[in-house]
Amino acid sequence: MTARATSSPVGTVTRGTTNPNRLRRMDRWIAATHGAELRRAADPVVVDLGYGAAPWTAVELLHRLRTVAPRTRVTGVEIEPARVAAARPYERDGLTFRHGGFELPVAGRPVLVRAANVLRQYDEAEVAAVWARLCGRLAPGGLLVEGTCDEIGRRHVWVALGPRGPRTVTFATRLGSLERPSDLAERLPKALIHRNVPGEPVHAFLRDFDRAWASAAPYASYGARQRWIRTVRDLVAAGWPVTDGPARWRQGEVTVRWEALAPRG
Ligand SMILES: C[S@@+](CC[C@H](N)C(=O)[O-])C[C@H]1O[C@@H](n2cnc3c(N)ncnc32)[C@H](O)[C@@H]1O
Repeated sequence: MTARATSSPVGTVTRGTTNPNRLRRMDRWIAATHGAELRRAADPVVVDLGYGAAPWTAVELLHRLRTVAPRTRVTGVEIEPARVAAARPYERDGLTFRHGGFELPVAGRPVLVRAANVLRQYDEAEVAAVWARLCGRLAPGGLLVEGTCDEIGRRHVWVALGPRGPRTVTFATRLGSLERPSDLAERLPKALIHRNVPGEPVHAFLRDFDRAWASAAPYASYGARQRWIRTVRDLVAAGWPVTDGPARWRQGEVTVRWEALAPRG
């Protein structure tokens, strides 16, 4: 397989902030929910788009995905050439680094594209076109995972999209660090962060999430995990379309259908 020409990468160089292990929650979720698709694929190509100033997130993505899909290959794509040069010494079996942008300088159709903490530095108005472009490159069963987290990965929110567009939103947190679920609001992906205002679905969801968390306070004596599980059960009872179950909730996660949180208008 050969790489495509990368003379004019699509996108803008932004801050390269990254950290070892920062994206572990996202990696684990991808391994759990997309591992079967990666195992099935004839050529399980994965792109870590915008891996930043050091290659840690791409190295870790390869490692975690290979535990569930041993033939996985990861290409880290970065728009800043010096960051590509810095990453190249870390290339190994199944791991390459390429200079490029949203055009994705890899041959074929990736089974997964992960873009973490990339679109947050773009304008909200640019998101839909970037999503459409990246989704258009996916393999038929492929997934785009696009989201944001804090510097050390304790709070994370991401959108998962298939070839036809957005499907789900996942909230993931280290439960011991949480005062209330709306603490996660500051890590909403670009498509949602400016919509956390009254009248928007994501605002109503976080309001209900905080209320359910407050009602579940008695469960705190059994630990934050039991309180979170109780809280998510209340969200389900209130009609929010939660797509996962207790096995994921125990990890401090909850996933909701995109349509329920999508911006109005
Ligand atoms: C904040 S860092 C995130 C690093 C890593 N993904 C993480 O979450 O720790 C964002 C990186 O995305 C890169 N970037 C921004 N737009 C890009 C694009 N269109 N294509 C490839 N890389 C891009 C920036 O140059 C920067 O290094």
